[in-house]
Amino acid sequence: MAVEADIAVWPDRAGGLTNEWYVDADHFRREMAGVFGSGWACAGVGAEIPEAGDVFPTTVAGQPVLLVRDKQGEIRAFHNVCRHRGILLMEAPARRQAAIRCPYHSWTYGLDGRLVRTPEVGGPGVGEADDIDRTALGLLPIRVETWLDFIFVNLSCEASALNDLIDPLVKRWAAYDLSLLKHGGTRSYDLAANWKLAIENYLESYHLPWIHPGLNSYSPLELHGYETISPRIFGPYSEAYKADTVDDRTLPHFPGLPEVVAPRGEYPLVFPNLLVGIQRDHLFGIIIEPRNHARTIERLHVYPVDDGTPETPERTQALDAMMVGWDAIFLEDIGIVERMQTGRSADAFDGGVLTQFHDRCTARFMDLVADSTPVTPPR
Ligand code: FES
Ligand SMILES: [Fe+2]
Repeated sequence: MAVEADIAVWPDRAGGLTNEWYVDADHFRREMAGVFGSGWACAGVGAEIPEAGDVFPTTVAGQPVLLVRDKQGEIRAFHNVCRHRGILLMEAPARRQAAIRCPYHSWTYGLDGRLVRTPEVGGPGVGEADDIDRTALGLLPIRVETWLDFIFVNLSCEASALNDLIDPLVKRWAAYDLSLLKHGGTRSYDLAANWKLAIENYLESYHLPWIHPGLNSYSPLELHGYETISPRIFGPYSEAYKADTVDDRTLPHFPGLPEVVAPRGEYPLVFPNLLVGIQRDHLFGIIIEPRNHARTIERLHVYPVDDGTPETPERTQALDAMMVGWDAIFLEDIGIVERMQTGRSADAFDGGVLTQFHDRCTARFMDLVADSTPVTPPR
């Protein structure tokens, strides 16, 4: 697979975004509306709601969202708020629910969002009332589409089809039989940092020798580069994915990978908030969930290749080792990302310096964020 010509041109910026972009709560709200509100954002994965009746509360653009698998097995998303008095409906994931019941006054919604019960609403023992039109008071739906196991939502309902965003990546990864991926593990991280810093750190390999000396020993900096797959999909890659040779870790590989593809690992951002990584034996996704200007949840989901051969203890061990390996690397990153957030309280910092070699993906990301945000402080 030849690397397509890198369509990235060095954005018109020498410095990074200024402190306001990281420490200002009002600015965070504008940014969420602009960056997450209009297009597609990743909200979760199917493995978080594997069976009918499973519900998973999360946030998108700082807003409470409920992912639901309905009775027919279809994935739906709703605003996670009761239509009566606006209470947060679900605080924690729940499995195999027949319906979604509000804890405050017991209004009950079907898995399709319809309001089906309003007990005592017309007085004691009276479950209906002339002034309450249940048909107009269902859960507020959110537009949903999926790619692989990833659930994307579009809050504005105005985005073009998800395929328009994802198609360049689908084409680029055509050599991988992605239908063989099977959910294999998950981790969650709670960061005291702005969501952009988590992404900016992912988009450069410059820090490898100092923050990830273990990773750098088998995937060294000199074998890393940066590529632009589409204007909204870009990130680093490694020419030397060898993690599956560490500790005799053997998981099935994607069958039939061309020689030029097999040693590569690619780590693009699908703007705005899905970090993906593909290697010859697995794919992972990290959903970046901004909670507020200084807090971010990361949900890592790992998908090894399932080639249909029977599970063995060695394979289970290999998967465990892989999860431990990624966990260690992502924990190494978290300390640094939180420390960057702390650094943003230095008024003298002006956004810093972006290097043309290592930071062009970061620069592109910053430009997309800045261009999407309605009223912007200095860039
Ligand atoms: S707030 Fe939900 S039933 Fe009253
Ligand atoms: Fe890192």
